Amino acid sequence: MITVKNNMFHLATANTSYIFYINESGIAEHLYYGKRLRNPEYDISALREKRLCPRVNETSLSPQDTTLQMTNLMSEFSTEDKGDYRTPSIAISYGKKKIRTLDLRFKSYSHFQGIERFSSPLVQAIGTDQNTCGIILEFVDAIACVKALFYYTLFDDSDVITRRVTIENIGSDPLILRSIYSLQLDLPEHDYDFITLNGAQLRERHPISRPLEQGIIINETRKGASSSESNPAVILKRHNSDECYMTNLIYSGSHREVAEVNQFGKTHILTGINDSTFEAELDPSTAFESPEALMLYSNMGLGDLADKMHHFVREHIQRGVWKNRLRPVSFNTWEALHFNFDEHGIITQIKAAAELGFELFVLDDGWFSVRNDGTTSLGDWTVNSLKIPSGISQISKECHRRGMLFGLWFEPEMVSPGTNLLKKHPDWLLGDPARKTHAVQRNQYFLDITREDCQDYLVTTIKQLIQNGSIDHIKWDMNRHLSDMYSVNPEIRSMGEYQHRYILALNRMQRAITSSFPNLSIENCASGGARFDLGMLSSGTSIWTSDSTDAVERLAIMKGTLMAYPLSVCGTCVSPSPNYATFRPVDLETRFDVALFGVLSYSLNLTKLSKAEKDAIKKQIEFYKQYRQVIQFGIFRCEEKDSITYFTASSPDRTTILVLYMQKLLKSNCEDDILRVPLADENYVYRVVRRDDSAPIWDIGKDVRDYKKEEEVYEVSGDTLKWAGIKLSTRYSGSGYNTGMRVMPDFSSRLYIIKKI
Ligand code: GLA
Repeated sequence: MITVKNNMFHLATANTSYIFYINESGIAEHLYYGKRLRNPEYDISALREKRLCPRVNETSLSPQDTTLQMTNLMSEFSTEDKGDYRTPSIAISYGKKKIRTLDLRFKSYSHFQGIERFSSPLVQAIGTDQNTCGIILEFVDAIACVKALFYYTLFDDSDVITRRVTIENIGSDPLILRSIYSLQLDLPEHDYDFITLNGAQLRERHPISRPLEQGIIINETRKGASSSESNPAVILKRHNSDECYMTNLIYSGSHREVAEVNQFGKTHILTGINDSTFEAELDPSTAFESPEALMLYSNMGLGDLADKMHHFVREHIQRGVWKNRLRPVSFNTWEALHFNFDEHGIITQIKAAAELGFELFVLDDGWFSVRNDGTTSLGDWTVNSLKIPSGISQISKECHRRGMLFGLWFEPEMVSPGTNLLKKHPDWLLGDPARKTHAVQRNQYFLDITREDCQDYLVTTIKQLIQNGSIDHIKWDMNRHLSDMYSVNPEIRSMGEYQHRYILALNRMQRAITSSFPNLSIENCASGGARFDLGMLSSGTSIWTSDSTDAVERLAIMKGTLMAYPLSVCGTCVSPSPNYATFRPVDLETRFDVALFGVLSYSLNLTKLSKAEKDAIKKQIEFYKQYRQVIQFGIFRCEEKDSITYFTASSPDRTTILVLYMQKLLKSNCEDDILRVPLADENYVYRVVRRDDSAPIWDIGKDVRDYKKEEEVYEVSGDTLKWAGIKLSTRYSGSGYNTGMRVMPDFSSRLYIIKKI
């Protein structure tokens, strides 16, 4: 609901209020963002900042506005050269003198129901006229010839407010846009921890928490993708309080989040396109649209904040038939076979996969042209007829015949040297032809997908393969970072625009494919999780969370990822042990217990499994199917205590709860364990049992294998489970052993099933 009264704008979602005020000078002063206020209209004098005298030695907006010192004003946007010395959210240069001064003043506003669509192919959140509404505010600087439109959209059911900005050149000279952050959030204090999701390939999105102090923390990437290093989702968590905020960007390219505390202790948050890799030139009467960003608030802690965000992703980011559909259990060939397969080998795996209960078979890299290693063939998307003489449609048929969907791997944005595609279209290679060499990664180069001819070729090729091969699912990979940005595309006048144009092209390509094949699911991937963002989730069903399939590493990856993204979009995997990336041996049941939390897949050579392993996998898949509604569409929590990680997934009605107890390193002779379940409903009575994971599959040593796993069954009321917890069976501590004791070596787990009775 949006109310406007006496120049005060109150944007209210179910539980939050976002309030700003157009002051006497036409400046949008931000007043409050937090728990919903009942009648802020009556409290304007309480909410407004008192400015009876200018701060010493600070710049005032004008002689008439001496107390209006922009650098200390909570505002809806910051501009340059009028006394605001914080990081600007909009920066331009205009005309022959390239003036930078920007002084935008309020002109008008209008309401809308539903969403206001972008005119560019940028992806955006979706909503209906019933659950979504918004407001557009117009600000103008007639000297700098800039019109700025700020779009605020309210998603009541998730407590999310999105914002985006359009900048229009209303002059007769070119306008250079140097910064256009989508969202600015100014807060009056700075007693917050700034939590970001950082890492690298194989260790994506580990949460890092830093207290805000005077100065700037920047979370960013310049790589052309949202990156493994710095996810665009960031969180502010108030000290000693459950109050927290999250911002995120619905965008897959280079982004920057600024957390700045000024000299007077105010916080200034920005999120948007990374302006260090960006510059756009606008002709007269043309406009530039920023991507859409979002913010949300909770006074009930990070768990509640994540719940709201998960709801928003499922409801307002994801679309199409897969939006609310249960995700299938898949088999992926990559870690099972790498490039070493032929038609017979694939069909053998398909038969085995169908017998084990898999629902989707994904043929990963290596099926096309002469690709037998990572050096060649990207771009030549024709089947390798030496390996698969009967063609992709035959493989697909073999899957369908056995009741499985069929998926195929692509890396459409790339090209390998020496390919037919490059011979035919040397000018499609991204890079300045005047240079002899271009930067290379994984032996591959980018195609200039901003060119329509190149884009059309890729879309047509993929569509034909989908059509002719009856493909149900594609894994859309992207395995390097942008470099050598030079395009002959005449539409791109400044290469500062290239990264953004690239994302527009990517959005357009994915949309063209999904709109032709509405039942297709897209699993996005970028060397694992280097493009794990709301942009990719708008066209994709899920994302390959990481190339790290190591169960221990995955705990940290999932902990961070799930702070901002729901389990229904996180691809997980049971792969061979010891793990290829860490050499860590982890038993099959534990690998499953961890991979259970997400969209489950396996990537193991099925012909090399023992009967016991196959039996165990079959049971695991049945178990997953039984509980996947809870896993994929439930509520998630993560807690940690010493070397133990707890993952909890609960049905929204709290009648079924799964708890993972995962031990990393064994602490010798450790304290007793208590199983406390904060998500339990106090009014219910539950039955607690351990998942039957007694398959004798310990790869880790004879002595451990000799112990039978404990049986623990409890009937317990919800309040006991929530507050007192269950004192679990005694841990083996190195001396005596009695039946029923829990023997848990390094990297081992238990999975508790808790059901209302
Ligand atoms: C990337 C992906 C992997 C796999 C390989 C194939 O690394 O993240 O899952 O598809 O490419 O080359």
